[in-house]
Amino acid sequence: MYERREITPQERLEQTQYCEKIKARLAGRPHYALVDTYGCQQNESDSEILRGWLTQCGYEITDDVDRADLVAVNTCAVREHAEKRVLGNVGALGHNKAKNPELIVCVGGCMTQQPTVREKIKRSYRVVDLVFGPHEVWQFPELLWRTMERQGRRGDRGRLIAAQPSEGVVAEGLPRQRDSAVKAWLAIMNGCDNFCSYCIVPYVRGRERSRRPADILAEARRLVEAGYKDITLLGQNVNSYGKGLKEDIDFPGLLAQMDAIPGDYVLRFMTSHPKDATEALFRVMGASEHCAHHIHLPLQSGSDRILKEMNRHYDRAKYLEKVALARRYMPDLVLTTDIIVGFPGETEADFADTLSLVEEVRYDAMFTFIYSPRPGTPAAEMPDPVSRAEKQVWFDQLLDTANRISGEKHAAYVGRTCRVLVDGETGQAPYNLSSRTKGGRLVHLAGDPALVGRFVQAKITDSTTWALYGEVVG
Ligand code: SAH
Ligand code: SF4
Ligand code: F3S
Repeated sequence: MYERREITPQERLEQTQYCEKIKARLAGRPHYALVDTYGCQQNESDSEILRGWLTQCGYEITDDVDRADLVAVNTCAVREHAEKRVLGNVGALGHNKAKNPELIVCVGGCMTQQPTVREKIKRSYRVVDLVFGPHEVWQFPELLWRTMERQGRRGDRGRLIAAQPSEGVVAEGLPRQRDSAVKAWLAIMNGCDNFCSYCIVPYVRGRERSRRPADILAEARRLVEAGYKDITLLGQNVNSYGKGLKEDIDFPGLLAQMDAIPGDYVLRFMTSHPKDATEALFRVMGASEHCAHHIHLPLQSGSDRILKEMNRHYDRAKYLEKVALARRYMPDLVLTTDIIVGFPGETEADFADTLSLVEEVRYDAMFTFIYSPRPGTPAAEMPDPVSRAEKQVWFDQLLDTANRISGEKHAAYVGRTCRVLVDGETGQAPYNLSSRTKGGRLVHLAGDPALVGRFVQAKITDSTTWALYGEVVG
């Protein structure tokens, strides 16, 4: 049985001591570490912690693999394609290791929680020195130290395979090197209890566990004080935040408390499961000062039969009802979604239901995927008679529809003036700045790089399927 376990201050201190030992070992010349991230924002967030630990261990962070003394690959298991790409890239590190035999290669993330993958790495990817799972990010310094101690031993005794069963811990106070000075991830929970029949995430990320509200609010206050302007709350299903905590709090309650933190910033969150998106949530969002009027509400399928097979706990009518309710509280709502095409047993008629729902809702943006069987999930055992080629035809049709609607929605912005946050430089003239509307739409701007981190008024002058273009008007 799963129990929520918080890392103790003593355990954290021990990790800091391992950092000191590693630092002493690296002294004498600069050492460089590269962290390569695949998958979702949860992984991006974990990679920030890995970079925090590595910095504390004395490494300088680099993105040049030829310079690296350590490479950590943070992997994703959600689709087979992602797994293949990762393993290909890990294999290619063999060339780097041939040039630099002291190179330390670490593989972490969701893929490593699957026993079959661990076995494969052990057998066929001898370049890998350390395998660790998402539940062990908090103790990375210790694992790295033990790996260093083993170096030079022959054969498998020189390698450390540490990924644990999917038990979850909650770790506060870990160092973090953030990727941006403007946008920040704020993980409020980890894991997932939903077990959608196609999905590997609950098996690799473990049971759902929430951070305490006081810890989250303190971190949010620190971020705002440090000048972050765009904070994204992260969880596989933020709508079920609070389950299992002593505090009596739910997600709308947390959002309302966060919104009360004074400052000029935007609050976002990812992801919402439609079954748990409530009127209370839409009310808080609509009334809040900081909340983006954006919901990413993964539909997965528009067919009631397929939704049932997917174990999603809502049907088409319920989903549409929620969308209508959300739009009542936020008429300017930006709505995005995820859709899977070609779930086992999906028919032409089921797919037509998805298309018609998409036409009805008119999403601002959609992320579409062809179903990928994940060993160990119930869907992987279901008969799947439709050919890959046929699924591809459906997929292309859905993508065309998605692109047409996004293009139309983007075109409607042209001529309008929006408040946007300039969040970075694109490196491409003449639209050298990237920015986001409060609803999360990407706007390319031409302007002074000194505007990065500032809110500006932008007049939208042009649009494509994927983005808006504009000029700074104030
Ligand atoms: N927790 C998030 C989703 C995480 S995975 C949520 O529930 O919204 C991101 C997306 O990947 C999912 O929404 C789904 O559309 C897609 N996905 C997950 N498993 C998949 C699989 N086996 N094949 C294809 N797409 C998948
Ligand atoms: Fe996967 Fe479903 Fe959990 Fe999302 S809610 S992570 S799709 S099991
Ligand atoms: Fe991938 Fe793990 Fe995220 S499987 S989508 S990185 S939770």
